[in-house]
Amino acid sequence: MVRAAPEFKAFEKLGESRGIMAAKRKIIIDTDPGQDDAVAILLALASPELDVLGITAVAGNVPLKLTEKNARKICELAGKPEVKVYAGAIRPLVRALVTAEEVHGQTGLNGPDLPEPKMKLQEQYAVDYIVETLMAEESGTVTLCPLGPLTNIALALIREPRIARRIKRIVLMGGGFFEGGNVTPAAEFNIYVDPHAAEIVLKSGVPIVMMPLDVTHKALTKATRVDAFRKLGTKVGVATAEMLEFFERFDEAKYGSDGGPLHDPCVIAWLIRPELFSGRECNVAVETASELTMGMTVVDWWSVTGRPKNATVMREIDHDGFFALLVERLGRL
Ligand code: BDR
Ligand code: CA
Repeated sequence: MVRAAPEFKAFEKLGESRGIMAAKRKIIIDTDPGQDDAVAILLALASPELDVLGITAVAGNVPLKLTEKNARKICELAGKPEVKVYAGAIRPLVRALVTAEEVHGQTGLNGPDLPEPKMKLQEQYAVDYIVETLMAEESGTVTLCPLGPLTNIALALIREPRIARRIKRIVLMGGGFFEGGNVTPAAEFNIYVDPHAAEIVLKSGVPIVMMPLDVTHKALTKATRVDAFRKLGTKVGVATAEMLEFFERFDEAKYGSDGGPLHDPCVIAWLIRPELFSGRECNVAVETASELTMGMTVVDWWSVTGRPKNATVMREIDHDGFFALLVERLGRL
């Protein structure tokens, strides 16, 4: 089993022992909010270890016009209107866009009544922003955090292949293996929506940490956990409780569980507290041909193929620790 990012821990320990703050880690969040994306963004913006260079929106849970607006709404909810939000791909590389209003509601952020954002959308195209930032920042210092279909990331890799060697790591929510799929029996939503983009990312040679359904289905928004957000008594806490109550209803009906899986915040939590997760380095390949299993992530967990290991696939989560981290951090906003 791999417990990831030991270099982060070592660096932080050195900083602590010398009484200095470790340098903030630079991230770009690529997202399709989505209530769980929203909680991931809030967690990142609340966390002093992270420097959110920018947020890039992609079409996914709902169309791009809504995902970019929702990203801005969340920055304003967090009290951070200075964060730069960019709009990217309007549709997947090859296939038609599939959205998930049945899960997230017509706006993508149903639940709380959030005001229309005042902060402006950046004019630059998100894909250009990703490329420009990676070429400008010191090589190996920027982590990409995709929380939706991988279209923007694949387009950036195609536009400027040199970025592959400059990206520190890609930590993504997507895929599922032992759990099967959530949008078809075989496929998880983010990978299903743009399997061709996922294939490009998985073959890019960039170090990848993958948070599949095998992990996120263990991070359930149980009633007591939703209450803990509401009890914060803040705008962020109450809005988060309202978002989660809307979001979980679909999965509670589907899985018969107390609460729904809180997928996307697992990505940001791993950056802050990697010891909450465990997994293993594997080869991961994506199905792009068969309609029956389109978007399936084929994880070679037992190394039976000899194919090169291209991702650290997480499988276990300390879910109590994860929710404790979320409540503590969102309480800072
Ligand atoms: C993923 O799909 C979306 O509905 C969620 O935001 C998450 O990123 C889970 O399959
Ligand atoms: Ca998402």
